[in-house]
Formats: sequence, structure tokens, C-alpha cells
Amino acid sequence: MDIKNLVSQMTLEEKARFCSGADFWHVEGLERLGIPSVMVTDGPCGLRKQAGESDHLGLNASVTAVSYPTGSCVACSFDRQLIRESGEVLGEECQAEDVAVLLGPAVNIKRSPLCGRNFEYFSEDPYLAGEMSVAYIKGVQSKHVGTSLKHFAANSMEHRRMSSDSVVDERTLREIYLPAFEKSVKEAQPWTVMCSYNRFNGEFASQNHRLLTEILRDEWGFQGAVVSDWGAVSDRVKGVPAGMDLEMPGPGIGNTEKLVQAVKDGRIAEKDIDIAVERILDFVYKYAENRQPDTKFDHERDHAKARQMAAESMVLLKNDGILPLDKAAKVAFIGKFANAPRFQGGGSSHVSCYKVSGSVEAAKAYGVTYAQGYNTKTQEPDDEMIIQAVETAKAAEVAVLFIGITDAMESEGFDRKDMKIPACQQKLIEEVLKVQRNTVIVVECGSAIEMPWIDDVRGVLYAYLGGEAVGPAIVDILYGDVNPSGKLAETFPVRLEDNPSYLYYFGEADRAEYREGIFVGYRYYDKKDMPVLFPFGFGLSYTQFAYSDLVLDKTEMKDTDQLTAVVRVKNIGDRAGKEIVQLYVADDESTVIRPVKELKGFEKVELAPGEEKTLKFTLDKRSFAYYNTEIADWHVETGDFTVMVGKSSRDIQLCAKVKVESTQPIKKVYSMDSILGDIMANPKGADMVNAMMQNMNPFGGAEAPEDDSEAIMAGDAMQAMMGYMPLRGLVMFAGGSPEVERQMQQIVDALNA
Ligand code: BGC
Repeated sequence: MDIKNLVSQMTLEEKARFCSGADFWHVEGLERLGIPSVMVTDGPCGLRKQAGESDHLGLNASVTAVSYPTGSCVACSFDRQLIRESGEVLGEECQAEDVAVLLGPAVNIKRSPLCGRNFEYFSEDPYLAGEMSVAYIKGVQSKHVGTSLKHFAANSMEHRRMSSDSVVDERTLREIYLPAFEKSVKEAQPWTVMCSYNRFNGEFASQNHRLLTEILRDEWGFQGAVVSDWGAVSDRVKGVPAGMDLEMPGPGIGNTEKLVQAVKDGRIAEKDIDIAVERILDFVYKYAENRQPDTKFDHERDHAKARQMAAESMVLLKNDGILPLDKAAKVAFIGKFANAPRFQGGGSSHVSCYKVSGSVEAAKAYGVTYAQGYNTKTQEPDDEMIIQAVETAKAAEVAVLFIGITDAMESEGFDRKDMKIPACQQKLIEEVLKVQRNTVIVVECGSAIEMPWIDDVRGVLYAYLGGEAVGPAIVDILYGDVNPSGKLAETFPVRLEDNPSYLYYFGEADRAEYREGIFVGYRYYDKKDMPVLFPFGFGLSYTQFAYSDLVLDKTEMKDTDQLTAVVRVKNIGDRAGKEIVQLYVADDESTVIRPVKELKGFEKVELAPGEEKTLKFTLDKRSFAYYNTEIADWHVETGDFTVMVGKSSRDIQLCAKVKVESTQPIKKVYSMDSILGDIMANPKGADMVNAMMQNMNPFGGAEAPEDDSEAIMAGDAMQAMMGYMPLRGLVMFAGGSPEVERQMQQIVDALNA
């Protein structure tokens, strides 16, 4: 389709109308020119296609669809192929339901465990979030259906989400909050990007030229259309030239009129509107011209996929040998979630499910008994239910307690207040533990919780929000039909107060300063060397893996070179299993403040008992770089780096060193205000200063103390103090001598030459 030509035939009014949706879910169409009106739908983990009444909070019904595990769950699979396949399935479902764009993936960074929407987001780590996102986008879009990469940007909080101002410094933005978006755009070109509700550094994302045009398009090369989050538009006239193409939901009658008027008044150019409409029509036709109307939505097949995804993602956090359960053992499943699982989050991602299976039903063949244990409508313990649960646990050989956060506590639109489970569940655990030592906990919720009972239970399986087939998937793992292989995509702190954003998270009114900077998640806990409940990248298996022979293909390289690392991994247990091998990079010595290590690669590998495989990782400049705000670019400091390969961020198995040389040395500029320590750090400066210092005493010849030890102290102290002395200070202490000043200036000039 010749889109430019099409747009040239539209009137200004028609074009302005296209800049917002036709209704809640449809993009405008135009019969006169044969332009179809296509539908967009949530996302990300299942279709929420509303045929009847519409809303963006998941309140009204949508067509029956399959609910897949949410982002926080699938990210723990660390499995690009699995995510890609799930994207393909979702893309097919969209074709079957005539949906042009699926509103996902959601790639915001988990800054705090409290964010109500963490269940939808992948990780605290930008590299992992980016890899998952690319796989998802490629999967969906391979079916000629678009995605909407959301929510752009710095939208890691639900509290005051439509008015808050995320105040983020440039380095933090580039290293933590943007890379998942950047990678997705550069490697997968989502058809659309959804701008977030919040302000970013003072300006709403929906009218933020820097975000939507300078960074997204000019720097990263985004080719698609920007869509507003539902209701995110503040000033539409400002938004169009800023790069915000499609306002949703529609119809934005008032804003259409404002745009027309703004063009007539000369406040914005008509060509800006043309560009927005061209971008919108571009994805409309990409879909319409590749429509596959015969695609069928096979609910059973897709339900099976949901089960596989859940089983490959959930994380075994503790196991003293009690798992897998003996199929002949007398097992009690306790807790409402065992029967009626919590498997998806509240809000716009809420799917009307095809079928939901609980674990009690799935484990019927093993003769499990069941007691409800608690209500989900209240946090208050129900004494009757607890007594019954305790009896059931006592009568069994093993008790499996299903607990988690309720819908009312964790959802889009607001944040959690703490990391605790409901009081009734806490009480249930305590009472059951009094009568049953063989207790395993299964957790169903979207984010991290505190576990004060961790030392008293024998096993913990973290199912997250595992989608509609979570029940059988849990049973697959509990009874060993599937060997668990998920690893945490986020750190579990011991307690909420340990989290780096704790002091600032809710901000002051609308101002939310991201003051912890780049120290998000393990970047913070590692730097502080703090104990955590479970580290990033942690997860157990029913088998064991041994790592050996980490080899780098070079020991010295330029930052423009690529580095290849290989490592051997062997299954040394007696069960087949999958291992997630993680590669971290550490800058051994740096003049900038950097995390102890950062994730720069991972591979998931399947190994039969005794089998060994070699895994290969490729590292490039970005793997070693930090964002240097002085040059507004990624920069590698010349020096030694350690490449670490581990089972988790806190279980590094092998290390190797490489020296990386920067091809972009940063020229230091010296002046009379430069301090002696910095001058001496430059070899040429050190030589010149040493020669000069022999002839002068900046402290006017004060006597050295008589006591020897004091003399040493005084000498050290003086040296330390002198290191911070600016050159102009030396001149001053030399009585303002013009000769000394001339000599100092000579050093400055020589170093700047
Ligand atoms: C959410 C988006 C969602 C949109 C449409 C908004 O409230 O933030 O993620 O895609 O509604 O339902």
C-alpha cells in the first residue's frame, strides 16, 4: 500500500481524527478510501478481547482465551525459545480473533517488590528483561500481528501512576530503565511502543519529545507508531510533534478539534499530523495485508502450552530432600489456592479463561486430601478452617501448603503496602508446623514476599502467577514428572526495608525520585554485601550440575572486538534436567562507581544424566561498558575485567580475566583548580611535580614532630592532604609567588597539550 499517497488524499479533519482511536479498542478506518479499522487488545499474557463493554481495568468480560503465566513467572524460565514460542501462539490467537496488535510485552524494571504490577514485568535486570522482550516480540510478530512495547518509560510504580513524575538521572536511565526498550527496538522492531502514564523528568511521557523522538527514533531507529497508554494524554497538541502518534482510547473528539485548530493557527505543522497518520496506517496495513483469517484458536493445545510454560518457569527455592514427593505417600494439600489457584494478576492483563485447573484436581490420582485453611476475602484467620487444616495435615505424611498474595493486595493500579502474606495464611503456616514437620510451601503470587518461616519448612516452590494451567504444572513438579528449572529473575530481600528504593519509593506527592540510581536489585545487595533471602538467578533442580573449563578466546582485546567465552556444564545427578548458566561481568578497577557485577549472558541447557555440553557466550563492548554522561555514550575504561560464570548471582563457579583497551580514551582537561592527586595520577604530571616539589615546601617549613611514629603519621596525613590541594593552593602557600604560578601553569599546559 502506498501510504503516503493515501494520506495525501485525506482532509486535515480526517487526519486529525486518525490521531486517536475510533473507540476503546479500534483504530480509525475510512470507508471513502477503503481504510479498514483494526482492533488492538491486551496483552501481554493472553488475549483480553472485549466484544461487549470496554474498560482498561479488566472489569468487564472478554472473549474466552488462554491465560499464560505472567511476565514475572516466565522470565524465570530464562528461556528465549520458550518465550518466542509462546509469542507465536499468542500471535496465532490474535489472527484467529482478528486482533491486529497485542498490547505487550511489559518490560518495566522491578525497582521495588511493592510495585502492584511487578507480576506483569520480567525482571530487576535490564539485560534479562530485554532478552525476554525480544523473544516475545519476534514470536508474536512472526504471525503478522503487532506488539506494543510498554510502558515507555521509567514507569516502575503504580502509586499515583497517572500523575507521578519519575525523576531519574541520565546514567541510571541508560543503564537500568531504558536498555530493555532499546534492545527490543533495535533487535525486534515492535510495531508499536506504548508511552507510559507518568511524567518523566518533569514532562508527561505522552508529550516527551526527548523520549519519543530523540531517544526512541533518532538514537534507536524505531520505525513504528507510538500509542498512548489508555488515558495517558495530557496535551495532545504538544504530543503530536513530540512523536505521540495514536491517542487511546478514542474517540478523542475534543483533541481532534484541538489538532485541527493548532494546524490552522500555525502552532503545529500539518506535516507532523501526516507523519503520525502514516505511522498508524503502516501497522494497520501490515496487519490487513497479511491477514490469516483461517487461523483457528485451539484452546486445548494452547492450554497445554500454558502448562508447559508454567512448569518450565516456576522456581524451587528450598528442598532438603523432601521433594519430589513419593506418589504413594499420604499427602495433604492445604490452602484455598490448592483448589482455586491464583494464576493471573488484576487489571488490564486479566483474561477470561478457557479453563482453570487447580492442583487438588490435578493430583487426584495420588489420593491427596484437602483443607481450605483460609479465606481470600479477608485477612482474618478463620479458627474453624485452621483447626480442620491442622487435622488434615496431622493425618498425612506430608503437608503441602498453598499460600500467596490475594487479588485485593496485588494488582495493576496501586502498589502493595508491604511484602507480607495475609495474616490468616501466616497463622495457618504456624499452626500446621506445630503438628507436621514435613511441610512444603507453594507460593502463588506475582512478586517477592518475606518468609519468616523459611527455616521451619522443608521445601518451597515459587509458582508465581502461573497461568490457567498452574495447578497441574505444580503437581508435575511436586511429584517429579517435571524437573524444576526456573531461576529467580529478581532478588528476594530478607525484608522490605532492605530494598534499595525503600526510603524513596512512594516519593513526595507526585515527585518520585529514583535516588538509589543504578543500584537496583542485585546490583545493590551485592555492592552492600548484604544477606538476601534468595539471590537473583537462584533456583534448585532435582539433579546437580558441575561447571568446568571456562575459556576466553583472548586475554586482551579492544572494546570494539568481540569476546567469546565457552564453558562446559555436566549433569552429575541421576535425572534429566535443565540448567540456566549465567554469565556476569565485573570491572576489576574503575574510576566510576559500578556494580560488583552485571548479567551479560545466559543460556538454558537440557542435559541427560551424565551428559556434558559446551556453552558459548559472545560479549561485546556493551558487556563491559557503563554509560558515560560526559560523552553521552557507552564507554569502557581500559583495564582488567573478570568474566564470571555461575549458577546464580551469588554462586559463581568459574572466573576468567580479560584486559580490555578502550578505543575511545577520554581526554582529561586540567586547570589551576585541578588537585595535586589528579595531576600525580598522570605519569607526565607526576614527573613534573616531583621535579618542582624538591624546591618548595608548601607548609612554610613547619618542624616535623619529635616522636617517630607521629612523624610517620604526620607525613602520611600531609601526603593525603596534599593530594586534595589544587594547584592554585600550592601557589597560595608559596606566598602567591608568580614564579610558582608560572610553573604550575606550565604543568597544566603540558598536560592539556
Ligand atoms: C494499562 C495498559 C493497557 C491499557 C489498555 C492501561 O491501564 O496500563 O498496560 O494496555 O490500559 O487496557
